[in-house]
Amino acid sequence: MLDKYRREINYLRVSITDRCNLHCTYCRPKEGISIKGHDDILRYEEIIRIISVAVEMGLVKVRVTGGEPLVRRNFIGFIASLKNIAGLRDISLTTNGILLEKFTRDIFNAGIHRINISLDSLKEEKYKTITGGGDLRAVLRGIEKSRKIGFAPIKINTVVMKGLNDDEVLDFAQMAFENPFQIRFIELMPFGQAQELHARNYISIDCIRDTISKRYKIDEIEGKKNSSDGPAKIFRLREGLGEIGFISPLSSHFCATCNRLRLTADGKLRSCLLSDDEIDLKGQLRRNCTDAELKKYIYEAITLKPGHHHITCAETHLKKCQRGMSTIGG
Ligand code: 5AD
Repeated sequence: MLDKYRREINYLRVSITDRCNLHCTYCRPKEGISIKGHDDILRYEEIIRIISVAVEMGLVKVRVTGGEPLVRRNFIGFIASLKNIAGLRDISLTTNGILLEKFTRDIFNAGIHRINISLDSLKEEKYKTITGGGDLRAVLRGIEKSRKIGFAPIKINTVVMKGLNDDEVLDFAQMAFENPFQIRFIELMPFGQAQELHARNYISIDCIRDTISKRYKIDEIEGKKNSSDGPAKIFRLREGLGEIGFISPLSSHFCATCNRLRLTADGKLRSCLLSDDEIDLKGQLRRNCTDAELKKYIYEAITLKPGHHHITCAETHLKKCQRGMSTIGG
């Protein structure tokens, strides 16, 4: 699937629920999130149908996200049926890790061996504050068990916020030094309810990288970059076991190589994380559209895909992206 800027679109991020067992500062609205009813959310069979049709069009890669995907009932059955879609080469999962210890064996056995875990603090109290009450130790146990079972790669996503967790950048780097993990530092993006926070707490990847390179020798892995690295710039820590990655959607955006679409839990296909243009696939499915029609709507989303987003580091008032991450999917 080529878009009008000749980008090959072959990657779909699928949010299977907008529910989450955490309430992270940058993800949930202060006034509480409106949880959608069962009927508003795509059924697993509907998601599988959309993905199967998209695979016929050239989709090869899917990431399952939320909300928190592990809170949706029969999640394991769902990923097992994803594995049955011929032509889908790469399936991965993003989770906050709270329920990972319980499910990691089943996830592995269902055939998903690549996970990303969101983790913004290594200090129990601060983790609680940032996540609205989350238990850091549960996440660390989940990560450890996943490592023992053999997940590879294990990637850890850390959104860095000035004054909140930027004092832990070196602790995270040390975690990558001592463990075979890829720790990815992500710039805070100003959408949904993160807009205010962004105005106060944004810190650029350049600053984070400076802090790390004062302590560690880091070498960029260029030629050998894995296709699963996506927009991250990956570095090896000299003499360390793991890697670190830098993801800078704002200070140095990577739209020119963007290959993704996003399916929201309520069945909207989005062509750009930072634009609210959406195609309502759920509505089409529920009026019994044919596969040919479904393909047409998927193409429409690809046609809508902007050349690049228009959000800069200095911008604080966004009109173009009102949905928060919990309803789009990370
Ligand atoms: N800015 C940057 N990253 C974000 N995530 C969620 N909201 C934001 C934001 N406003 C991250 C989560 C998770 C990934 C899926 O997206 O921390 O790791």
